[in-house]
Amino acid sequence: MSHSGNKDAQSPAKNSGNEHLLKVTDLVQSFGQGKNKVTVLHGVSFHIDQGETYGLVGESGSGKSTIGKCIIGLNTPSGGSIEYNGDKSIQMIFQDPMSSLNPRRKIGDIVGMGLDIGKKCASKQERNERIGEMLEKVGLPRESAERYPGQFSGGQRQRVGIARALIMEPELIVADECIAALDASVQAQVVMMLKKLQAETRTTFLFISHDLSMVRYLSDRIGVLHLGYLLEEGSTEEIFLNPIHPYTKNLIAAIPVPNPVVQYKNEIRYEYGTSGVLYEDGSWHQVQGGKDHRVFCTDREFKKWGGNADEEE
Ligand SMILES: Nc1ncnc2c1ncn2[C@@H]1O[C@H](COP(=O)(O)OP(=O)(O)OP(=O)(O)O)[C@@H](O)[C@H]1O
Ligand SMILES: [Mg+2]
Repeated sequence: MSHSGNKDAQSPAKNSGNEHLLKVTDLVQSFGQGKNKVTVLHGVSFHIDQGETYGLVGESGSGKSTIGKCIIGLNTPSGGSIEYNGDKSIQMIFQDPMSSLNPRRKIGDIVGMGLDIGKKCASKQERNERIGEMLEKVGLPRESAERYPGQFSGGQRQRVGIARALIMEPELIVADECIAALDASVQAQVVMMLKKLQAETRTTFLFISHDLSMVRYLSDRIGVLHLGYLLEEGSTEEIFLNPIHPYTKNLIAAIPVPNPVVQYKNEIRYEYGTSGVLYEDGSWHQVQGGKDHRVFCTDREFKKWGGNADEEE
């Protein structure tokens, strides 16, 4: 299902040590002052290696976009650190393909803006060639360059947004709910296109979504976020085959099953308020047998949830 995180023969000099492309450590984000202060990220830590796609999944309000904005520098974190070891830029694909494109600018100028600002092309011809190539790459005709966002469908506009990010040849793309606003069939098309681009360009992705099945399709590893806490992290396979945290289990159980004959035996209903779980008491626990699979909880919870199956009670 997931392609391998290839880190990789093509860039031997860089990251030859144990350096991660992106390392987020104890990220805290609060807003407001005094009585009005709210903390929406509570010490989030994860890393992404070169060539890897990391899927960050969580429900609305869990803090996903806030993490993305901290990474690209739109937000100033209240605590923790973000270490980026790339040579090239980070680009973000935004959630809403309508509002993120200037309606008065031609598609070619929107896609080429980064090239123009950075004076990255020697001639107009080269510039137009690169824009045309990129449009084709995301499945749009070259002639789209002369048209305006309003003349495109939602799915096409999202392709424009993707082209605008990719043309800068970023090393890391933060894709924040980049397909959420699209119809299901269009979502599938754009996701398949992203999958193809991943394979071709080996760009590293942070793929942010509330939709676990999309995340599953695209990601090498998955992090599960709830109420500003990263609760579980592991390879896509581990997360789906051996989820430990009841919140993760709940998310997986909530994925609609295409075949109505198949039924889940235990429909897990997890509510934080009544679960008895206190996220602030948690710490990271390594799941036995699951490489890089870890759960944020107390020792007791970890035992109870079977994260350490071999251990005697
Ligand atoms: N600038 C801000 N000022 C105050 N609160 C904020 C600000 N930005 C985000 N928040 C709050 O932080 C929390 C997390 O927001 P965030 O946008 O990161 O969630 P999300 O997981 O991306 O949700 P969604 O899936 O709906 O996009 C929310 O409660 C939101 O209201
Ligand atoms: Mg968001």
